[in-house]
Amino acid sequence: SFQSKIPEGLRRLPGPKPLPIIGNVLEVGRRPYLSLTAMSKRYGNVFQIQIGMRPVVVLSGNETVRQALIKQGEEFSGRPDLYSFQFINDGKSLAFSTDQAGVWRARRKLAYSALRSFATLEGTTPEYTCVLEEHICKEAEYLIKQLNTVMKTEGSFDPFRYIVVSVANVICGMCFGRRYDHNHQELLSLVNLSDEFGQVVGSGNPADFIPALRFLPSKTMNKFVSINARFNKFVQKIVSEHYASYDKDNIRDITDSLIDHCEDRKLDENANVQMSDEKIVGIVNDLFGAGFDTISTALSWSVMYLVAYPEMQEKLYEEIRNNVGLDRTPLLCDKSKLPLLEAFILETLRHSSFLPFTIPHCTTKDTSLNGYFIPKDTCVFINQWQINHDPELWKDPSSFNPDRFLSSDGTEINKLEGEKVMMFGMGKRRCIGEVIARHEVFLFLAIIIQNLQFHTMPGEPLDMTPEYGLTMKHKRCQLRATIRARCEQQ
Ligand code: HEM
Repeated sequence: SFQSKIPEGLRRLPGPKPLPIIGNVLEVGRRPYLSLTAMSKRYGNVFQIQIGMRPVVVLSGNETVRQALIKQGEEFSGRPDLYSFQFINDGKSLAFSTDQAGVWRARRKLAYSALRSFATLEGTTPEYTCVLEEHICKEAEYLIKQLNTVMKTEGSFDPFRYIVVSVANVICGMCFGRRYDHNHQELLSLVNLSDEFGQVVGSGNPADFIPALRFLPSKTMNKFVSINARFNKFVQKIVSEHYASYDKDNIRDITDSLIDHCEDRKLDENANVQMSDEKIVGIVNDLFGAGFDTISTALSWSVMYLVAYPEMQEKLYEEIRNNVGLDRTPLLCDKSKLPLLEAFILETLRHSSFLPFTIPHCTTKDTSLNGYFIPKDTCVFINQWQINHDPELWKDPSSFNPDRFLSSDGTEINKLEGEKVMMFGMGKRRCIGEVIARHEVFLFLAIIIQNLQFHTMPGEPLDMTPEYGLTMKHKRCQLRATIRARCEQQ
């Protein structure tokens, strides 16, 4: 096993004893968020496991994670060179690649400013404060119509199947200036996957750590490679069309703005970070990928909690009816009037913790944490699930209880409690889509709760067990919905 020299004054990392060749793969098992949370109780907030031959440091506890990702942010800001990452965005991903710090930082800044400027752009009519709001409102209304039609023709529906198209359309609108029909076959086949992507990329996939496994036939891995290839081709085609019709005086969307950046840069002789056009325009691939999977998973879990807690669904509907009314579409500016909805979203994120680990990190130099030595290039897992279920932080963490986020009179969100929910990472690698994600989840939910009432299928128990992956999904299921008749209830 590996025996690097420990500098004086620092301790060796604790952790379970690894077996030869496979390390701790068996103890980690198929639900790493549970097994690694259990290990944190035994070994503490900083411990080490071995996956295959490779050591991995696992961080738990709000304070420890804060110390690593914020106070020592630089040292913990790398990404490990995992086998599966090379297939994502042709190995040129902003989120998953091992870009040098300078290149990653420049790309992240570019992605962030493109995203922000296209989300806050003015809408086409004054009723919307920004295009993001306009896209969401329109897609949510299409979604309601679509579900209503499907209910009439089929009698039930798979919520994820429809939500994912609506959410993909919002990010497609910003990235590519277009939307797709709910029955568009090419888009459906890309976004409506069972989760081969997340299962391979989720923290602790043995094939990422044990080279021998890469040579064994694996259906999941083959699907993963082919999904990535199809995804890249889909985006590449749209990007080529953008190059062909690009006009610097009419920047239509995020793709155009990234192309524009490449053109500008060619004139800038002082540019200090060298980046290929591919690495710049390829950013749109990351934004599109990160922008539909996460948000549709969040919404789909929300709908599951609505049907699991029907009295909560009614309370949320009443809140909208009383504070927004039924004769107009809810807007982003209604947020402060809907504290229960906000609390319900926070509790959905916390309780599901559907992103149980951040994307794996990697140390950029020799460092130490809580007195333990951690060498350069060590892979680091951040256990968000543990933080969201830590009995030190939360009363009765396993129960679903949105009230925990409300002030005692129920009229306001308790901000400090809300900030304890760990879903977007923190520090230098923190999610750049967080604001958009929070707006989108809020507005989609407000609009669908105002218009639809969801039910389980009679006699079918609801299965809320998550399937492990980068983003954990619930099992696909059939639900029913009834339209809330606006006029009757006013
Ligand atoms: C990274 C969560 C939505 C873009 C991340 C990370 C998490 C996360 C946990 C990894 C942080 C780390 O490695 O420490 C979420 C959740 C979302 C969401 C829960 C929705 C509910 C979005 C959206 C976008 C986006 C809508 C863009 C449109 C990104 C990007 C990164 C990232 C580009 C990589 C950042 C980097 O490596 O520097 N997100 N995200 N995310 N997210 Fe999100």
